[in-house]
Amino acid sequence: MKKPSILIARRIFPDIAARLAEHFDVEMNEGEPPWPQDELIRRLQGKAGLFITGSEKIDAKLLDASANLKAVCAMTVGYNNVDVAGCTARGVRVSNAPDVLTETTADFGFALMMATARRITESEHFLRRGEWKQWSFDFFAGSDVHGATLGILGMGRIGQAIARRGHFGFGMKVIYHNRSRLAPEAEGPLQARLVSKEELLREADHLVLVLPYTPESHHAIGERELALMKPTATLTNIARGGIVDDAALARALAARTISAAGLDVFEGEPSVHPELLKQTNIVLTPHIASASIPTRRAMANLAADNLIAALTGGTMPTALN
Ligand code: 8YV
Repeated sequence: MKKPSILIARRIFPDIAARLAEHFDVEMNEGEPPWPQDELIRRLQGKAGLFITGSEKIDAKLLDASANLKAVCAMTVGYNNVDVAGCTARGVRVSNAPDVLTETTADFGFALMMATARRITESEHFLRRGEWKQWSFDFFAGSDVHGATLGILGMGRIGQAIARRGHFGFGMKVIYHNRSRLAPEAEGPLQARLVSKEELLREADHLVLVLPYTPESHHAIGERELALMKPTATLTNIARGGIVDDAALARALAARTISAAGLDVFEGEPSVHPELLKQTNIVLTPHIASASIPTRRAMANLAADNLIAALTGGTMPTALN
């Protein structure tokens, strides 16, 4: 019997592509840039499955033009690039890749928050420029992480993993704002307190954003919210660009409305707002929070498991519809 055909939209680990090739006729993007959507649509013709990352937009245009498509499987936990309802309406199964990246992403979020509080990249740039001549009492003095108040906006799996690091590792007081309160068995050990968004902004010494990007969370942190934060506070975003109004953040950093920011995600990435690039009190990384080799392998394998199950009559491990 002829194998179903699938398209892998971005280059992935060769052995995982080979695993998919045992089940499917596979076409993979071997190049570096993502395909423009028209090319993706052209290559999708006759394909039953699509393996994606966070870069591909799966919208009505693509779905209407891809009549044979039965499954779209993402190797990411976030799926704001996929119109899940549109897929469901057309009988297309969708999956994401939760859980396998939780701890790795939390490690990175915590590292980014610490680097931001302790001015690690700013001081390294200074040293590399050959400007280190002497010591002074306030030389790159930042703010403490241990014992400080950790504010988490979006207390899902990754938010809770960051809270564990803060509470158990650094003696931080944890406050959070979320659609729903954590179950007592999750909240209790963290001694975490659910607060209003305004209280979170006013009280956090270090605010970390870990919420999904939806129309409701667009610019959840803008000028008004930044103005409520302590001038000594830091802001870390490992969630999605668009949750923060980057232009407003650049103004707040310049005016020292908050002390510093750590950003792994940007509005319109891979472009970065030019005013953010001009600020010194900021740590910038190119969307790498889940980027460890074991975790990226686990993410890709989970997407592959979903695709194989979807197209061979099995049960998808992490289906979204
Ligand atoms: C991805 C992520 O690496 O899983 C997610 O939602 O943001 C990252 O782990 C990124 O989306 C790649 O495009």
